[in-house]
Amino acid sequence: MGIKILGTGSYLPKKVVTNDDIAKSLDTTDEWIYSHTGIHSRHVAGDGESTATMAAEAARQAMAAAGAEPGDIGLIVLATSTPDYNPFPSTACMVQAMLGCENAGAFDLQAACAGFVYALEQARGFVNFYPDKKALVIGSESLTRILDWTDRASCILFGDGAGAVVLGNDEAPGVASAKTAAHTILGADGKGAHFITRTGGCKNALPFTPMGIPAKAEPERPELVLMGHDVFAFAVRTLSKVARDLCEKLGTTPESLDRVFAHQANGRIIEAVARRMKLPLSKFWLNLETTANTSAASIPISLDQAVRAGELSEGMKIVMVGFGAGLTYAGTYCAWPNL
Ligand code: UT7
Repeated sequence: MGIKILGTGSYLPKKVVTNDDIAKSLDTTDEWIYSHTGIHSRHVAGDGESTATMAAEAARQAMAAAGAEPGDIGLIVLATSTPDYNPFPSTACMVQAMLGCENAGAFDLQAACAGFVYALEQARGFVNFYPDKKALVIGSESLTRILDWTDRASCILFGDGAGAVVLGNDEAPGVASAKTAAHTILGADGKGAHFITRTGGCKNALPFTPMGIPAKAEPERPELVLMGHDVFAFAVRTLSKVARDLCEKLGTTPESLDRVFAHQANGRIIEAVARRMKLPLSKFWLNLETTANTSAASIPISLDQAVRAGELSEGMKIVMVGFGAGLTYAGTYCAWPNL
């Protein structure tokens, strides 16, 4: 009973770029990238693929798994930092049209790599108040299109893809929120805004750079700029704290968790989080060897892979936890598939 994940889906582009492929045009090696990140290859959106098309494909799978028809969907929340248009029309609106979800409201949500958990929480609020409607929550990214391919410290980290879930509720309005209000943490620390930035936007019209964000000559297309060390330290500190705080709120301990779905940014980050939480690494879902960092898509892709691999059974205690540009962080607890 209550709000639950009714179905999951994901999409990874067919085109794969390996570390060796990157090393052909950049001063790097597969050995360096793998030993510093755990990444061997990433999927890259090809001709005809975009944040919207990948999102729609992941959503179709999630709807099929949930047995949901387009007309059942009352809301589409799409988490992305790489919308097809910046910032409008929203990618969510294009996905609404592609899926034929004519009854659905649709909007994009930008909370970087923590975006999926933020989006899940918005959708949870929606289905809590409209229990007869379902919500589609999607994370979709075309990060490889905003990378500076001459910056070996950042371009090796990211990949493209999409993941989606359908949420539904079988409780009366308000009942589920009272039961589950303690299950989510959404947070931010804007003092670290300059750690990960994407060039472009209205700030360029200003004669100063707010929040200490370094000035950079505007490239012809938007580019991601990363201060890797600072992000690494923030990630390790924050992911373990959010997961611990969630357990504390629920009156349980990290040892009781069956699975942790942490944002796939760097294998060394996840290893450090596992050590801090005193949990075996085997409890953490790991797929970044072949997906790299897909930002808002990373948690729903992982979730869908776990579901399709038969790794999640009813009642398993799982935590989804992410962090990203902003800085943002977010975590949510789920007694699978109940949110
Ligand atoms: O979703 C959030 C997005 N961001 C992140 O998750 C980023 C988190 N941070 C990280 O994952 C790591 O900080 C990086 C993977 C980005 C960098 O790893 P690191 O172990 O912190 O390396 P470093 O920046 O300390 O660089 C060490 C050396 C440097 O050379 P020198 O100055 O010691 O001579 C770099 O120039 O490694 C060099 N280096 C590389 N060498 C070969 C940096 N990138 C590369 C590369 N190939 N791709």
